[in-house]
Amino acid sequence: RKLVGKLSTGCTEFDEMMGGGIETQSITEMYGEFGSGKTQIAHQLAVNVQLPPEQGGLGGSVIMIDTENTFRPERIAQMVKGISDKHGIEYDPEEFLKNIHVARAFNSNHQILLVDSANELANELKNTEMPVKLLIVDSLTAHFRAEYIGRGTLADRQQKLNKHLHDILRFGDLSNACVVVTNQVMSKPDAFFGDPTKPIGGHILGHTATFRLYIRKSKGEKRIVKLVDSPNLPDGEALISVTTDGLGD
Ligand code: GTP
Ligand code: MG
Repeated sequence: RKLVGKLSTGCTEFDEMMGGGIETQSITEMYGEFGSGKTQIAHQLAVNVQLPPEQGGLGGSVIMIDTENTFRPERIAQMVKGISDKHGIEYDPEEFLKNIHVARAFNSNHQILLVDSANELANELKNTEMPVKLLIVDSLTAHFRAEYIGRGTLADRQQKLNKHLHDILRFGDLSNACVVVTNQVMSKPDAFFGDPTKPIGGHILGHTATFRLYIRKSKGEKRIVKLVDSPNLPDGEALISVTTDGLGD
C-alpha cells in the first residue's frame, strides 16, 4: 500500500477538518443543493492538485468526468490567477488547462465506461511529470437519477451505481489518486428520493464513499462544509468562501 497523499483545498478550516486535505486512495463525496458550490470546489481541486507538494498539491494531472456539461475553462483561468496572486508566482492558465482531461459522459453507461478510459490514461501518464492524481465525477448521480425512474428500477440503479463506485475506488487505489464525486440533494423533501439532507444512493453509497461532505450555502460567498462521515476523523464544520479568485477562507 502506497503512502496516502493529501490535497489542499486552499481553505484553512476545510484542510484542518480533513486532517490536512483530501486523501488519495479514498472517495470523497460532496453532496448539497444546486448552487451550493460542489462544481466550484471540483474546479479548485483540479487546479490545486497540479501544484507541487510545498504548495499543497500532489504535482499531478486531473481526469474530470463531466456529466452535466458544467466544466468551465474560464473559471480555471480565474482560479489560476487567484493561486498566482496567493503564492506570488506567475502561473500560466494554459499549462493548468492542459493537465485537466475532461470527458463528457452522455449517459450512465457511458459514464461507467469512462472509468476504463481513465485507467488507460492514468497508465499512459504514470511515469511522466504529471501522473494522474485526481479523478472527479461531477455529477456522480445525475444520469442515474434521470434514467432510473420508478420503484421497480431502484435495485437496478443501486447495483449499477455500486459497481461504478467500486471501479472508481479501484482507480484511486491503483493511481494513488484522490477521487472526488458530487451528488445533488433536493432542498425540499422528495417523494421518490426521500430525506433532502441525505444524498441519493442510499446506504450503498454510504459505505463506499469514505469521506462525505455536506455543502450548504451561507451568507453571500460563504459556504459551510460539514464532514458527516469519515473513517478516522471527528465530524466537523468548516467555513469557506467561493470568490472570483476561487476557494478561500
Ligand atoms: P449543482 O451542480 O446545480 O448541484 O450546483 P453546484 O453545487 O455544483 O454549484 P456550483 O459549484 O455550480 O456553484 C454555483 C455558485 O458558485 C454560483 O451561484 C456562485 O455563487 C458561485 N460562483 C460561481 N462562479 C463564480 C465566480 O466566478 N465568482 C464568484 N464570486 N462566485 C462564483
Ligand atoms: Mg454542479
